[in-house]
Amino acid sequence: MISDSTRMRFDKEVAKYPVDQKRSAVMACLAIVQDEQGWVSPETEAAIADYLGMAAMAVHEVTTFYNMYNQAPVARFKLNVCTNLPCQLRNGQDALHYMEIKLGIKMGQTTSDGLFTLQQSECLGACADAPVMLVNDRTMCSNMSNARMDAMVAALQAEAAKHPLNDASKLGATA
Ligand code: FES
Repeated sequence: MISDSTRMRFDKEVAKYPVDQKRSAVMACLAIVQDEQGWVSPETEAAIADYLGMAAMAVHEVTTFYNMYNQAPVARFKLNVCTNLPCQLRNGQDALHYMEIKLGIKMGQTTSDGLFTLQQSECLGACADAPVMLVNDRTMCSNMSNARMDAMVAALQAEAAKHPLNDASKLGATA
C-alpha cells in the first residue's frame, strides 16, 4: 500500500521530529498519501499507523477531523462551502443550496462528469468574507454571491475543457 518512494517522503517528514515523537508526522504523511492517491483509504491509514507506530484509530481520528483529507475519491474540483454559524448569518447555507441546484447534486455528492464534488465545511477562517468556499483545499473564494459562484463554476469548467485529464486520473485528483 505504501511504495518505497512514498516511504522515503515519510522518512523526510519523520526526520523533522525527535526520534520518540515520530507520530507527530501523521498529518504530513496523510497529506503525502492524498497528494499521490487523491484520497486516504482505511488500508492506507493502517499502513501509516504501522509506519508511525500508532493505533490505526488514532490516524483515523486525524483523517476525519480535518476537511482537507478525503475519505473517498473526489472529483477534479472539490468545493467546500462553509456553513458554520458566522457564515450561516451571511447566507452560507444559501450558497451551499445554490450550488446544489446549480450542479444538480446534493452536498457530499459528485457530478456525473467527475468534475465537481460538493461538501460543506467548518470555519475556513475567513468569516468576514462570507459566504466563502474553498476549492481543492487551497484556493479561497470570498464573498460568493450567486453571480460569483456562476463565474467560478464556468471558469473551472473552462479550465477542465482546456486541460482534460485522462479517465484514470479524473477521480481522486486534488490539485
Ligand atoms: S464561519 Fe465560515 S469562514 Fe468562519
